[in-house]
Amino acid sequence: MTDLYAVIGNPIAHSKSPLIHAAFARAHQQDISYERILAPIDKFSESVDAFRRRRARGANITAPFKFEAFRYATNLTDRAVASGAVNTLVFDGNEVLGDNTDGAGLTRDITTNLGVKISGARVLLLGAGGAAFGVVGALLDECPSLLTIANRTHAKAAALAAKYAGSNAQALTFDQLSHQQFDLVINATSASLEPSSGSALAIVPPNCYAAGSLAYEMIYSQGETSFQQTASLAGARIAGGVGMLVEQAAESFFVWRGVQAETAGVIAMLAQG
Ligand code: ATR
Repeated sequence: MTDLYAVIGNPIAHSKSPLIHAAFARAHQQDISYERILAPIDKFSESVDAFRRRRARGANITAPFKFEAFRYATNLTDRAVASGAVNTLVFDGNEVLGDNTDGAGLTRDITTNLGVKISGARVLLLGAGGAAFGVVGALLDECPSLLTIANRTHAKAAALAAKYAGSNAQALTFDQLSHQQFDLVINATSASLEPSSGSALAIVPPNCYAAGSLAYEMIYSQGETSFQQTASLAGARIAGGVGMLVEQAAESFFVWRGVQAETAGVIAMLAQG
């Protein structure tokens, strides 16, 4: 019998997840179907309940429901607890396991696909919203020499760093960045989604980019974002969220199917548009 999965979000029409999971399933002979579900903003749990009644095996959860999915789960993995958000659910009778594969997807793309070491690197994480919360634990697990978090609303960056008190995470204001240098700058803000925000991230001073640094945009977009353009002008190598998107999907696929999916071909397919 075909096993049923879906990605649940609002909006959801743009989601590439069905395409990615179909490609994994084809390549690894997995008998699954994977659909998109648009959940009304105030009816997340009802939408998941209805999907489970169809004997579904699992779901990916995307914006804006990752915090609600965290509360919906009856059991949580350690990495879901660390990030406070869930992007992968596994259904097993009355039990629902909540996991978070975003951090693993990000670090695997940076280290394995792009060949950039996080270990020992000076890392700057821009943003302190849901996307940033989801990846700090995984970044710290890679042992950067320092993880600096900067956010437009500084108090949120300070709160995120405080959550990892005792680690080498710190929060700085944008003003304090001017005398710092970073090997890896990750944009976890949603600024690139706002059409008129061209200058919002130009506040990262160009001299922050160390020689040979990587500027990584977590948002998946066709074409360069303003963050990438600014970083590129400052001499940084740039990369986009397509690799992370595919790697977090591969990690979910592994959680559900126990199969490590081949990702390179799928990343290349999506990168071509
Ligand atoms: P997500 O789940 O995508 O992280 P979020 O929780 O709403 O969404 O967080 C959005 C993040 O992008 C926040 O860090 C936000 O900064 P504030 O905390 O100051 O709101 C950041 N952000 C959004 N638009 C931005 C802009 N134009 N310039 C800089 N930061 C921006």
